[in-house]
Amino acid sequence: MVRPAGIKDVASRAGVSIGTVSNVLNRPHMVREETRLRVEAAMTDLGFVRNESARQLRLGSSRVLAYVFLDAGNPFFTDVARGAEEACREAGLALVMCSSDGDPDREREYLDLLLEQRVHGVLVTPADNSNSRVRTIAGRGMPLVLVDRHSPDGSDDWCSVGVDDVLGGELAVTHLLEQGHRRVAFIGGPPTVPQVQDRHTGALQAMAAAGAAADDLVVIETEALTIASGREAAQRLTGLPGRRRPTAVFCANDLVALGLLQQLVQQGRSVPGDVAIVGYDDIDFAAAAAVPLTSVRQPRHQLGRTAMNLLLREAAAEPGHVHEHVQFQPELVVRQSSAARAPRATRPRVPVDPNR
Ligand code: RIB
Repeated sequence: MVRPAGIKDVASRAGVSIGTVSNVLNRPHMVREETRLRVEAAMTDLGFVRNESARQLRLGSSRVLAYVFLDAGNPFFTDVARGAEEACREAGLALVMCSSDGDPDREREYLDLLLEQRVHGVLVTPADNSNSRVRTIAGRGMPLVLVDRHSPDGSDDWCSVGVDDVLGGELAVTHLLEQGHRRVAFIGGPPTVPQVQDRHTGALQAMAAAGAAADDLVVIETEALTIASGREAAQRLTGLPGRRRPTAVFCANDLVALGLLQQLVQQGRSVPGDVAIVGYDDIDFAAAAAVPLTSVRQPRHQLGRTAMNLLLREAAAEPGHVHEHVQFQPELVVRQSSAARAPRATRPRVPVDPNR
């Protein structure tokens, strides 16, 4: 049996001292970026895994856990964090939250700081699909669970909790097609965001299932998934020539949908009469909107609780722990913003619930 690689092997492979390897593990901020990357590459090449007893020693008795997510301005994440925090408190621990604003560099800085602070474990909604920093942190023995993400490449290096966003996109567009719409738009954020990719895939599947051509789905990409992005997208939507202009829009999340709704109403357009709208997340503001928003609900509180419970088990380092990948199902909640069109009204498959 080959002896597992130790710190000396890493130092030799990277051409640095043992002290430098130790600094990379425990005080990464003290190491030049180029040196740190070289040492990390050596760790990956050698399959170096921190000594478990050293990990337990390093983790010590920290009573703090962290959640690094994409956008503190999006109620989706604060709702998920509330569920995580509830499970955390029940275990007598505390949760700190870090918003990366979708910036991989800021995410890395937070993860390095949390490693340095020896927190008990981290939940991460990664800023992109590379997960490079996530892999490094997990490789150093930091308990970690991916949130709002399925395990991207089938890797089994950590637990993950997410929602079937492909099904969510399919539910949204199928609903619009059932209302009699044929020209549908998908207003998504940056195409690099995995959730946007999956929702777009589901939208295309719904179009195909209805016999519509893929290019009947007008795609409007936005720089971000915010209310401002939704307002900006409204300008582009209404600027399309009449024969190309969609009569229905599926937005990649509720903030974009609320921005779109606000701009269309300000332009004097009718929702759903001129344009039907469906959002995604079903945050509280969706039901409270001037025209109550139809949305694909994500079980946000449950996502957070489930992720935290997985993380606590990961941190307890239970013997024989097997990583789990939990995927929840989304639910379409129909409201006024996509109600059946008068001329060709067809009963929506999902009954409208005015109180939701
Ligand atoms: O971060 C963008 C979106 O992805 C959020 O609104 C939520 O839908 C998450 O899944």
